[in-house]
Amino acid sequence: MSDDPRRQKSKYTSDRGIPGAFEGETVTRRRFMTGTAHTAGAVATSAFLLPAIGFALGPLFEKEPVAWNDVGSVNDFPDNTYIPRIFTEVPGMGEAGKTTAYIRKHNEALDGPIPKPVQYGQFIAISSRCMHLGCPVRFTSAAQRFICPCHGGVYDILGKRVGGPPVRPLDRFYTRVVNGRVQVGPRYSVNSELKRFSPRLPGEPLDGIGQYLYPSTPTQRKLPPQ
Ligand code: FES
Repeated sequence: MSDDPRRQKSKYTSDRGIPGAFEGETVTRRRFMTGTAHTAGAVATSAFLLPAIGFALGPLFEKEPVAWNDVGSVNDFPDNTYIPRIFTEVPGMGEAGKTTAYIRKHNEALDGPIPKPVQYGQFIAISSRCMHLGCPVRFTSAAQRFICPCHGGVYDILGKRVGGPPVRPLDRFYTRVVNGRVQVGPRYSVNSELKRFSPRLPGEPLDGIGQYLYPSTPTQRKLPPQ
């Protein structure tokens, strides 16, 4: 670079010895072109970054009303076996938003006391989604077992895993009774002691360190008011 002060004040980049200078290019033009390139880069980056951030963080600010589905009269469900019911778990998705729950009346001998808040536990609604990879399980009343056809997962009448690769008991749904009708609400997950957790994905264990390794995702936090 030249030590000549006149060359240092020149408006041409070549006089000032700026890297990449070419004949006739002024410092102002260099700054303008650099600024334009940075602005274009920022616009291009935000074009794909902002939607991605919005998509990821949007659910944090959503206040979805809790959806309750009518699945039948209180008299439709015995307390010693399950009745399957299909209902809409995710509204607005058509058939893809539907799921199946196996439902029965709470049975003190089988289930122990109703966990608090008791208004959500008078009926047991067990999800048909296997906790290995998500295949639909079926309840076999003769064997009193939920059986998964995909890889041989087996659960007892409470939905606790007794065989095969599933990592935790079957998910459950909150239930409530309104005017003699049973309604099924949000999904929740349970650990091997049937303690409630916010919903987790299949394959995510909830015992021990698992509950910390697999926190619930924002879209899955849909617990009713306690
Ligand atoms: S998906 Fe049920 S055992 Fe694999």
